[in-house]
Amino acid sequence: MDSVQTHLMGLPNHAASHQLRMNAMRDVLDAHGERADCDNVLMIPVAAHFQNTGIPLACAIDMALSQVEAMNADFAGTNADIGEWIDQQPGLWPNISNGESCIQFCLATMNHPAGFGLAEGDYAVTLDQTNGDNDPAWSGYLNFWVRTIGGGTLGYSPLGGSGNGDGVTVDPSYFGTVSCGGNTVSPPFHLGRTTTHEVGHYMSLDHPWGGGGCASTDGIADTPVTDGPQFGCPSGQNIVNCTQPILWPTYMEYCDDACLFMFSAGQVAQMDAYAEANLQGMLNNSATTCQEAACIGFDMSVTFQHESCTGDDGAVHATPQGGTGPYSYSLQGAGGSATGVWSGLEAGTYTLVVEDANMCPFEETVVLIREEANVQLGWVQHEYCSDGAGSLEVLDQEPSALEFSLDGLTWQATGLFENLHAGTYVVQVRNDAGCSGQVETTLLNQSDLSVQLKGRGVSCDWVDNGQITVKAFGAQPPVTFVLNGGEDVVVGTASEGLFEGLSVGTHTVEVIDSEGCAFGDEVSLGLDYSLVGEDCPCALFVPNAFSPDRDGLNEALQVVSSCPVTKFRLEILDRWGRVVFRSEDPDQAWNGAAYGSVGEGDSYVPADVYAYRISYRWGVEGNQGLEPLVQTGTVTVIR
Ligand code: ARG
Ligand code: ZN
Ligand code: CA
Repeated sequence: MDSVQTHLMGLPNHAASHQLRMNAMRDVLDAHGERADCDNVLMIPVAAHFQNTGIPLACAIDMALSQVEAMNADFAGTNADIGEWIDQQPGLWPNISNGESCIQFCLATMNHPAGFGLAEGDYAVTLDQTNGDNDPAWSGYLNFWVRTIGGGTLGYSPLGGSGNGDGVTVDPSYFGTVSCGGNTVSPPFHLGRTTTHEVGHYMSLDHPWGGGGCASTDGIADTPVTDGPQFGCPSGQNIVNCTQPILWPTYMEYCDDACLFMFSAGQVAQMDAYAEANLQGMLNNSATTCQEAACIGFDMSVTFQHESCTGDDGAVHATPQGGTGPYSYSLQGAGGSATGVWSGLEAGTYTLVVEDANMCPFEETVVLIREEANVQLGWVQHEYCSDGAGSLEVLDQEPSALEFSLDGLTWQATGLFENLHAGTYVVQVRNDAGCSGQVETTLLNQSDLSVQLKGRGVSCDWVDNGQITVKAFGAQPPVTFVLNGGEDVVVGTASEGLFEGLSVGTHTVEVIDSEGCAFGDEVSLGLDYSLVGEDCPCALFVPNAFSPDRDGLNEALQVVSSCPVTKFRLEILDRWGRVVFRSEDPDQAWNGAAYGSVGEGDSYVPADVYAYRISYRWGVEGNQGLEPLVQTGTVTVIR
């Protein structure tokens, strides 16, 4: 491109016209600002001219078509390998977006220039009928000059084409994506990206390195400055030549075809502006030379109706939006239609195919489903006290007759089901036309009976004295109270039952009234020392005499309790009120020693009558009696 451009700039007037084109492009670019979606396709007619390649016409056409197809994908950002860009983002290039150009290309088929033997409908592909890189007969086309170039050059283009019979030149080894007619497209430049690159130049894009070196740029804001071309395949690599990671995957680089897969948003904006500003002749020409141009704007609005429960009444309506009539319609699986309306359809998958008078195609798949029967629950009557008299009715709003079933085995003509017990029911429906549906509901076993349980924990260590009081509300007497599934049964007219002598643990209580209503619940009983005394005769036993005389009998005073005690405090006083022993440990015995001594020799208290005072509570730490208790008395020390 660079040397072609240098050559062109030396021709009279070229520099001036080039400058005008670039200015016009910049005006459009400035006016557009950030381009949103492409609402206006810029269709460019293409002609391919093979020059002494020996490639036969059929192959030349295949090559040209494959090139146009590849290029259309590359420009629109729909290339098969665009995922390589998406997958690597935003990692390597957090501030760069790829662009999707509005420019599309078509291999022209209509209104060809005279003198090339091309009939209406032929592709604009010529063999050995042109020379060099320009043919004024083909102005208004983007021309591909396909010929052997040599010298290691794959292709070239002017920088900013004019549409006056110019185009891009590409070596047949790098043109298109198919090998045929004795010609091979040669890896690693076999994906048509040489032409994409050259057409980028034609649309005014420079290489990212501009004239080379870090001081030169391509004039595009989002392509980072780089000092020269990249080759090969730098997949995944972060390459910084000047200041930022370079954009090696842009089509305007020199990497292998497989490693060029995007135009930047800035490059696309400039190309689109260039085409709009300077290639209007081409864009206009496409309307009469390109089949595809005639199809721009052709679309169908498709609506449909699913198959209802009645059956065979699905419908599809196709209405043209744009395009040129008459239209030919067909719905695969249902046949043709003169109007684009099909009715009486079954559920299924249909392919709608429409063609307008310009043979512009439209295809869409329509999936019709079978709608469920329109059924709902009418009402539910719950059963009362297990009487099995529950019922329900399912109502439908279908013109066709439905059958109803609770188990899928027996079917009946109405949605009324009686004599039901509590439970969850699924009513299934169906009709002769094969539609179905279902309604789910839950029936309850209702009753007015309710029960209140109150437990009293076990307060004894040696006798199970737990209690449960049962109160029944809304019961029909006589009422039966059942403990632990029949361990104990109380029957009476009263609405209250009492179970006594219960152990620590979980007990179940059931209440059944004369109507058969039953209500069950459970109560957990624990140990509860706060109730000691009521029916558990806990006692402290203090001996009234002992003889600390080392004969081995009754040597010490030991308090014995029949239940656990807490907050224990024992004091023993002599007849003058002096404390001779004190302990907070109920297990600690008094061996008759005088206060503060351990009881050796003369440190024993004399034989006499002593008073004791014990304060305590029944129970254990955290579960103790509520009342502080006091026990007093006397003990005689004998020698
Ligand atoms: N004008 C460039 C050359 O001939 C084209 C580079 C195309 N690169 C590619 N990967 N197809 O070297
Ligand atoms: Zn180039
Ligand atoms: Ca740049």
